[in-house]
Amino acid sequence: KNNKFGQKYKLPPGPKPWPIVGNLPEMLANKPGVPKWIHKLMKNLDAEIACFKLGNVYVIPVTSPAIACEFLEKEDDVFASRPMSMASDLISAGYLTTALGPYGEQWKKMKKMISKDLLSPMKHQWLHAKRMEEANNLTHYVYNQSKSKNGHGGSSVNVRIAAQHFCGNVIKRIIFNRRYLGNGGGEGGPGLEDVEHVAALFTLLIHSYAFCVSDFVPSLRRLDLDGHERIVKNALRTVNKYHDPIIEARIKQWKDGIMTETEDLLDVMISLKDAENNPLLTTREIKALILDMMMATVDNPSNAVEWALAEMINQPEFLEKATLELDQVIGKHRLVQESDIPKLNYTKACLREAFRLHPVSSFNVPHVSMRDTEVSGYFIPRGSHVLLSKQELGRNPKVWKDDPHKFKPERHLVDEGSDVFLSEPNLRFISFSTGKRGCPGVVLGTTITVMMFARLVHGFTWSAPPDQPIELVESQTDLLLAKPLEAIARPRLPEEVYLLD
Ligand code: HEM
Repeated sequence: KNNKFGQKYKLPPGPKPWPIVGNLPEMLANKPGVPKWIHKLMKNLDAEIACFKLGNVYVIPVTSPAIACEFLEKEDDVFASRPMSMASDLISAGYLTTALGPYGEQWKKMKKMISKDLLSPMKHQWLHAKRMEEANNLTHYVYNQSKSKNGHGGSSVNVRIAAQHFCGNVIKRIIFNRRYLGNGGGEGGPGLEDVEHVAALFTLLIHSYAFCVSDFVPSLRRLDLDGHERIVKNALRTVNKYHDPIIEARIKQWKDGIMTETEDLLDVMISLKDAENNPLLTTREIKALILDMMMATVDNPSNAVEWALAEMINQPEFLEKATLELDQVIGKHRLVQESDIPKLNYTKACLREAFRLHPVSSFNVPHVSMRDTEVSGYFIPRGSHVLLSKQELGRNPKVWKDDPHKFKPERHLVDEGSDVFLSEPNLRFISFSTGKRGCPGVVLGTTITVMMFARLVHGFTWSAPPDQPIELVESQTDLLLAKPLEAIARPRLPEEVYLLD
């Protein structure tokens, strides 16, 4: 393609592709560390945008916020699609839902509905009591553990389990009006069914866009060379085993007239009508949508809270500052409420810092270009997969000049007195992203993340277990903490406060 001066636009720099297979051999050799390989090559090339050819797909990773904004602001219309992949096809039941589908009528219908009918400010308000029930359960669950072994001396808590299940509980509560898929685990903890369910959601998240060979050479799909299809199908079976009976029974209750009033989002989904007064959503769409929302809720908040707490236990001056803010805003005679969130700027700065330095995955959900275009002086062919690097945007030394690899919440408090938000529309790191494919769950996601963190920090004094310093090491296969955070929690409020609901 030529620019206006008749010169040829070039593809962004990258490794030389082999005929037909492109850079697939190197990709395969680097699995599961494909993001590491991509980032290393970009560093060697000193490039903030690059081009890898996988099969006949151009994959364009980006590590500069300015270039990322060109993609998702200036050229947002062009990059509003998603790749078709084995996993996203299976998970979204043939692209029926919002997050994983290519641009088109189905995506538009679902995105509009999810934003307007399920995640609107009014619905958020309507669901307040359900979220509070789960925030109180989180407090009770941690409180029960913190005093279980040696009175008020504190006891070890697996923060990952508490965090992932708080997210799971909130989304199950607001969609299904229940916390447990079975009988629960006692003392506010997850039951076996809930553990299996959340684990399956994470398996699906990890495999949604996991550089599966057949996504780049579709003719290989039947062979399932990397075994991803089997893993995804197993996880889907697990999730469906729990979701389907609940959804089908509820649809029947509405049909039979046993249910007439909406109590949760599943009721809302069943009752929505189109312009001709027919049901807006089919059963298949409802099932796919619920899985989409469950997956969208569990990973980001739990990972941010686990990392923030781990970092702050190792740098106690930050934990003290956050605790001081919480004591000033809330005092010691009640628990944190959602109405406190606007005032918790230091707490939110800690969480922004966790999103910046410790995103849950290396890359944002991929965007696909719908026509040939030019970005940052390079030719980007139609069908390219654009991967904004969550990891390297947040650690870009040109943007984060002051120790980019250090956890420092203060860097988000530059404008004295102005409110801190978890969103970052300038893409200097990625929390909710921006543009047409931006996250519709900003309010719910922020509420879940801040409430969870604030309840943990305000309610308990946290420290490393004796003789077991907390190791701030990323796992080899993803960006979660390599070892789930185990820390000592000691109650720090009067006992009766924990028992209030
Ligand atoms: C702290 C919590 C959350 C974070 C950090 C987050 C972040 C994101 C990001 C980065 C994307 C991709 C944007 C892009 O393609 O550029 C996304 C998409 C999406 N998120 Fe969230 N999210 C959160 C919570 C939620 C919640 C609670 C829901 C709903 C229950 C939700 C629903 C969605 C949906 C449906 C999409 C797909 C949008 C589309 O493709 O058009 N998210 N989210």
